[in-house]
Amino acid sequence: MTAAAAYNRRMTTTRLLNLLRPVVLLACALPLAALFWAGLHGQLGSNPVERILTSTGDWSLRLLLATLAVTPLRKQLGLHALARWRRFLGVWSFVYALLHLAAYAWLDLGLDLAEILRDLMTRPLITVGWLALIFMLPLGATSTNAAIRRLGAQKWQRLHRLVYLVAILSVLHFLLKKAGKHDFAEVWVHAGLLTVLLGWRIHDKWKNGGFAGFFSAGPHGCSHAPGPGGKSSHPMGAQIAPITFHRKRP
Ligand code: HEM
Repeated sequence: MTAAAAYNRRMTTTRLLNLLRPVVLLACALPLAALFWAGLHGQLGSNPVERILTSTGDWSLRLLLATLAVTPLRKQLGLHALARWRRFLGVWSFVYALLHLAAYAWLDLGLDLAEILRDLMTRPLITVGWLALIFMLPLGATSTNAAIRRLGAQKWQRLHRLVYLVAILSVLHFLLKKAGKHDFAEVWVHAGLLTVLLGWRIHDKWKNGGFAGFFSAGPHGCSHAPGPGGKSSHPMGAQIAPITFHRKRP
């Protein structure tokens, strides 16, 4: 393929991904809309609270994994425009997690603080869920451009590495939920995906000079850091450097 043909193909893919972006952004709201619709029409089944808990929990986890899949897909397939999907996928995951917590604390436990605390202290499933959500909070709270400017790119990137811990805790939370019913099929799918996504990052890091500086983010310490003339975005979504994938026409 000539350089001009490769350029044209890249531009077509970029345009397509940019066109699809608002569609996918809105599609993330569909599970929520479906819940509202089912609720309004009395179609939430015999246990509506469980249905809401399950749906919001499932979508939060799926979108979290989708967020983590952006960088490997972008780098492996050269789909650079995908970087602009990451932030909204991460934010939607956070929104579903908050709704999940609201369903649990409000609909399930009637905001009974003593009951909520007892659950937190006595049920590992709930303890791990809380931990995942607590570590998600700073990520959700700093997902705006203003927050990135305020923190500075390096601090912000370091903070957002929490997403890996959140993902591990979320899958563990899912495992604990399913372990109660000895129903592990879906858990293995999620755990497998997470292993591949984290494994890819470890391999990528190793290939690009190892882990020196991993916990002191910087141009060599973070696989999301801006490359020369490139762009960077963090695992949960915000872009750190301007997107510059429009190379000069050959
Ligand atoms: C304060 C934090 C959290 C609490 C209190 C909480 C609570 C719960 C509860 C009570 C259930 C249902 C358990 C049962 O039916 O026995 C559940 C299930 C679930 N939660 Fe959470 N959770 C929290 C955070 C999270 C987070 C952050 C995620 C994902 C990112 C998540 C994902 C899930 C999933 C996937 C399920 C299982 C749904 C299914 O059965 O398909 N949860 N959670």
